[in-house]
Amino acid sequence: MEFDEVIKKRRSIRAYKKKKVPFSKIVKICEAARYAPMAGNIYTIRLIVVEDKEKKAKLAEASFHQDFIAEASHVIVVCSDLSLLKRSYGERAFIYGRQQAGAAIQNMLLKITELGLASCWIGAFDENAVKRILRIPEPIQVEALLPIGFGREKPREIVKPELKTILNFEFYGLKVSKKEPEPGV
Ligand SMILES: Cc1cc2nc3c(=O)[nH]c(=O)nc-3n(C[C@H](O)[C@H](O)[C@H](O)COP(=O)(O)O)c2cc1C
Repeated sequence: MEFDEVIKKRRSIRAYKKKKVPFSKIVKICEAARYAPMAGNIYTIRLIVVEDKEKKAKLAEASFHQDFIAEASHVIVVCSDLSLLKRSYGERAFIYGRQQAGAAIQNMLLKITELGLASCWIGAFDENAVKRILRIPEPIQVEALLPIGFGREKPREIVKPELKTILNFEFYGLKVSKKEPEPGV
């Protein structure tokens, strides 16, 4: 799949077939997280792969009953260990930690798409409940849950913002570029 196609094809899918995802593909998805940029190359991401049916059901409950999570073949729980980052960057570690978790999550979502699988970034969950279910130590942050499976629905119809609504030139709020687009762009 072309890179642009992967970016555009990635969509949140909230229904999965019963079919198991081969473990080799789960490993490839986790590998994608390794290549995310990290401040000072201090790697904060920790992943927990959950396949156990009962645990997946508990995670769905802890995510305010987003029950489709329990349908997934696997759930990857993305966590951050900020201890080393805090030593280097103090308070900024909290910002960097969130940002690099986002980078790792997007890498994984794109890999999931490229592998023909489906997922949805889950950010709404009771962190303490997730920690209890998976025995995650107190200082570790839970960033997101990624249920993974073979999709069983079409993506919802949503409108992505037009480029002009997010794009500014030179100053915030300045919408018009004097530059001509380069040939072929
Ligand atoms: C930080 C974050 C948290 C999210 N949490 C949830 C969630 O808890 N449940 C859910 O169904 N979707 C969740 N989403 C997915 C968004 O709803 C989805 O990305 C958005 O509607 C755009 O749709 P798309 O992913 O298909 O482009 C979350 C996305 C982000 C980035």
